[in-house]
Amino acid sequence: MKIAFFDTKPYDKPYFEKYGKEYGVTFKFFETKLTADTVELAAGYDGVCAFVNDRVDAAVIDRLQELGVGILALRCAGFNNVDMKHAFGRLHVLRVPAYSPYAVAEHAMALLLTSVRRIHKAYIRSKEFNFSLSGLTGFDLHGKTVGIVGTGKIGKVFAGICLGFGMRVLAYDKYPDAELVKRAGVEYVTLDALFAESDVISLHCPLTEETHYLVNADSISRMKKGVVIINTSRGALVDSEALLSGIKSRQVGAACLDVYEEEADLFFEDNSGHIMEDDTLARLITMPNVLVTSHQAFLTEEALENIAETTVKNIVTLAETGECPNELCYRGGEAKDCKSGKCFS
Ligand code: NAI
Repeated sequence: MKIAFFDTKPYDKPYFEKYGKEYGVTFKFFETKLTADTVELAAGYDGVCAFVNDRVDAAVIDRLQELGVGILALRCAGFNNVDMKHAFGRLHVLRVPAYSPYAVAEHAMALLLTSVRRIHKAYIRSKEFNFSLSGLTGFDLHGKTVGIVGTGKIGKVFAGICLGFGMRVLAYDKYPDAELVKRAGVEYVTLDALFAESDVISLHCPLTEETHYLVNADSISRMKKGVVIINTSRGALVDSEALLSGIKSRQVGAACLDVYEEEADLFFEDNSGHIMEDDTLARLITMPNVLVTSHQAFLTEEALENIAETTVKNIVTLAETGECPNELCYRGGEAKDCKSGKCFS
């Protein structure tokens, strides 16, 4: 099997080379993203391997099909960057549904702790031998209420971490998990109640038409004054302009963002020598109570290992059996896990 690998970063290669060699898959690594302009690079390959900011729209899908490329192997869990309605029946779309929910949930807590204990400020101060404590007063997480939107794999781990900190955990999910209530004491509430009662809100649901701009001017106005908003899920869950207004008005106490709605052309790259064109992001970053990391929540050794192994196994399983349990299908108007691996036919 020959796979064209797009948006390659130095930390991807060793893991994919290792598992490619083990399972007989050859990767050609391209630094460029997969777009309508670069899709020609896929000519002659059996499949393409893409990441979160490769835009796999109808034009790219049609061209891949014309080129005889039958597999789109996503090396991530989210698939909002793929036009699944168009892809279904044209390409086998494979994903890595879980690689380390701990990586993302722990990063969300790392951001939260950094923010509420002002670690980002203390780090810079002590580098300059400024050991003053003025302005570094934080607050205890113990006894505070956290609202978790989306209690899937990552949301559940984050709930466990928060319970360990002695927080009251509220949750909202389209499909609540009764086990989580019984086992962990998590309390499911309506989204309105979650917004109204939470001191900290963490987003762990996928980006869909329904969840687009879940955090907006209206929902922010219904949150507790001083709320801390964490987004490690997908940028467009949050209306960034509304978030900026909420920060300026002090309605939002702090924001911890690992994702940003316009991240595709910025994140994962060194833009330090360029003029920042995105005024909203630039303004958010100037705020002392906004932390931005560039979609790095997944970036642990364990996650990279699992991502590479699962992606390679997905490709090989599909090639050998014509089916893959990690294939996505499009049924009933939404993209979902195929599970049987037989939807395509
Ligand atoms: P998951 O599929 O296990 O859980 C998602 C949960 O969201 C499910 O329980 C589902 O019922 C719920 N949900 C779906 N629609 C909803 C709605 N309208 N309102 C409320 N809840 C809804 O996914 P997992 O693995 O926990 O990942 C969550 C998200 O984290 C992914 O969609 C992805 O966007 C993001 N992610 C971010 C990473 C990063 O590096 N920053 C890495 C991996 C995932």
